[in-house]
Amino acid sequence: MPAPFEAKPYTGKTAFEQWVEYEGVPMIRDFIVPDLNSIEIKPWDRLGASGSWVVLGAPEDQLSMGAYVCEIQPGKSTKPQKHLYEEVVYVLRGNGATTVWNEGEKPLSFEWKRGSIFSPPINTWHQHFNGSGAEPVRYVALTNAPAVFNMFHSYDFIMNNPFRFKERFDGDSEYFSGKGTSRPGLVWESNFIPDIVNLNLHEFSVKGPGLRQVEMELSGNTLSAHLNDSPVGVYKKAHRHGPGAYIIILAGRGYTLMWREGEKWQRFDWGTGSMMSPPNRWFHQHFNLGKESIRQLALKGWGQKYPIGGWEQMFKSTEAGGDMIEFEDEDPAIREMYVEELNKEGLELKNPPVTYRKGM
Ligand SMILES: [Fe+2]
Repeated sequence: MPAPFEAKPYTGKTAFEQWVEYEGVPMIRDFIVPDLNSIEIKPWDRLGASGSWVVLGAPEDQLSMGAYVCEIQPGKSTKPQKHLYEEVVYVLRGNGATTVWNEGEKPLSFEWKRGSIFSPPINTWHQHFNGSGAEPVRYVALTNAPAVFNMFHSYDFIMNNPFRFKERFDGDSEYFSGKGTSRPGLVWESNFIPDIVNLNLHEFSVKGPGLRQVEMELSGNTLSAHLNDSPVGVYKKAHRHGPGAYIIILAGRGYTLMWREGEKWQRFDWGTGSMMSPPNRWFHQHFNLGKESIRQLALKGWGQKYPIGGWEQMFKSTEAGGDMIEFEDEDPAIREMYVEELNKEGLELKNPPVTYRKGM
């Protein structure tokens, strides 16, 4: 039987973009979306639900990572699906359950709600159920589907592949129990995080004053996630890395400056529900303008367990050849602008004073 979709050689659209078009789902391409809860969604036959792709970054970035939003109507479920790309799911709204199984084996089920994070292991069958008869479920998932589609450009290989990743998912009945292990590097390794609110955050002031963070490793993935919390009146250090970190604002409001080295920054304002992704190798720097701490969840295309590159560079200063700009080395206009913005809100700067290094 021929595959339902066959990617053609490039004529202005990558294999991933052709596949999205074939499935008839909208795709948002931007730096940021203001609120994941209100983006336009359309019926998505393969999922048996509604949704939209959200592929963020700069227009010239390689298509490697992409998120999608899925909404399941009250009392309904998605169709069973499996695929040869990874995904990490964050539940934005509602509650329900997911069933996961390998072909011909006993399914495992677990229940989730708003604030849950999990990842159906790569190429396992999975099906999501809305547990409410009254409220829709909405979740956002980061995937490496663009990289996988563009690399293999074969629908059958990706969507209909019998390979079983035994080392990732062995059907262990405790797999989605929510138990986990703390590891060095601020890591919480668990295949199911029932409620992100209960995660234990660790001091991580190398990124900014008062910052607390936890890294999450799930389902043997290359993809990972982190959550951080940054206090009132504080801004973080600028840093940069490759594409594919999708930042979701769980709480708070503020703005982010993003710039390509040697160019003027662009400012992006955000609030609860926003999602943004710093483009490939663009510096980015986050500023809290609210009266409460900000909580950012990043779903990202790399982790510490199975890294795809030198993530240690991200927290080494530019002075030492790394990718993080210490406050002493940044453009003084960045702090001046933040102080001005804070004052408009009746707030004060809480970052410690800075002495700029010579030559600034
Ligand atoms: Fe970053």
